[in-house]
Amino acid sequence: AEILRVGVAGLGTVGASVVRLLQRQAQALAARTGREIVVTAVSARDKGKDRGVDLSGATFYDDPIALAAADGVDLFVELIGGSEGPARVSVETALAKGKSVVTANKALLSAHGSALAELAESRHVALAFEASVAGGIPIVKTLREGLAGNSIERVYGILNGTCNYILSRMEAERLSFEECLKEAQRLGYAEADPTFDIGGFDTAHKLSILASLAFGAKIAPEAVEIEGIERVTLADIDAAGELGFRIKLLGVAQRTAQGIEQRVHPTMVRKTTAIAQVMGVTNAVTIDADAVHELTLVGPGAGGDATASAVVADIADIAKGVRSAPFGLPSAALRKLERAPAALHEGG
Ligand code: HSE
Repeated sequence: AEILRVGVAGLGTVGASVVRLLQRQAQALAARTGREIVVTAVSARDKGKDRGVDLSGATFYDDPIALAAADGVDLFVELIGGSEGPARVSVETALAKGKSVVTANKALLSAHGSALAELAESRHVALAFEASVAGGIPIVKTLREGLAGNSIERVYGILNGTCNYILSRMEAERLSFEECLKEAQRLGYAEADPTFDIGGFDTAHKLSILASLAFGAKIAPEAVEIEGIERVTLADIDAAGELGFRIKLLGVAQRTAQGIEQRVHPTMVRKTTAIAQVMGVTNAVTIDADAVHELTLVGPGAGGDATASAVVADIADIAKGVRSAPFGLPSAALRKLERAPAALHEGG
């Protein structure tokens, strides 16, 4: 079979898991895609670190931008993180060179997704990002393909594993906010700067991506109203509990008469609802749509293997030659929306 040469930039928890899954599933992936998928190059800050994966066949780069540009790489996987710097430049470099890109980088997509999508379109390559929202849950594919016959009214859910872990542990173990955050960091769920998690910004990044897919609008992170969980206390959780509610950090995007409304805030949900049962690092996304009415997907929202599962699915799609229009829209339509009334992009 023709070889697909994959370059992986960033060998943290997710990067190492991607290499491991590609090796473990090599035969099945070759059968499913008709291509032999091989990691030919990697980049990371620390070359010597033992990551428990076999990298003997891969060329090591110190610079992810050099990796993105390398001749021996057909497909570039960006797992560096951050909306600027090497993550942004390496993705732009790969796309400009006519290489498809797979990324888990929600901050990058939230800030520059529409421009990157246009760049990918202009070069006729894929920009795939299943892993950027809700970890292992195939929510991008569900919105884009599975629900293609629907008009979507609302998308909402628990999109940050760290926050849900903190709120769950505070309630179950009677621990303080700070203790629970430390535990989430120790387990590797939290962002490098956990303010992104607890301040609601990570949820907002993911919500802006979901809203764009669900409603066919440009990504508009500035339109998201954001309140995090920093001020939620054990007393708040108890007070809500006595009334039959649980506190969850929800991201909500919905159509309104004024346009698309997007907001992130701690929300009281009735304990008997499905979303209230979602505990720990688990994520959940509910979609209200005209044909299916209501659909909820629940699964692991963070962690190496779960997130790598989504990255590998994107790699497999590209190996098969699937190239979905980024954000569900051809670039001409994206340009048209750019000129549409502001109400389309702004929260009501
Ligand atoms: N810090 C993120 C979370 C990682 O806790 O959900 C997955 O995007």
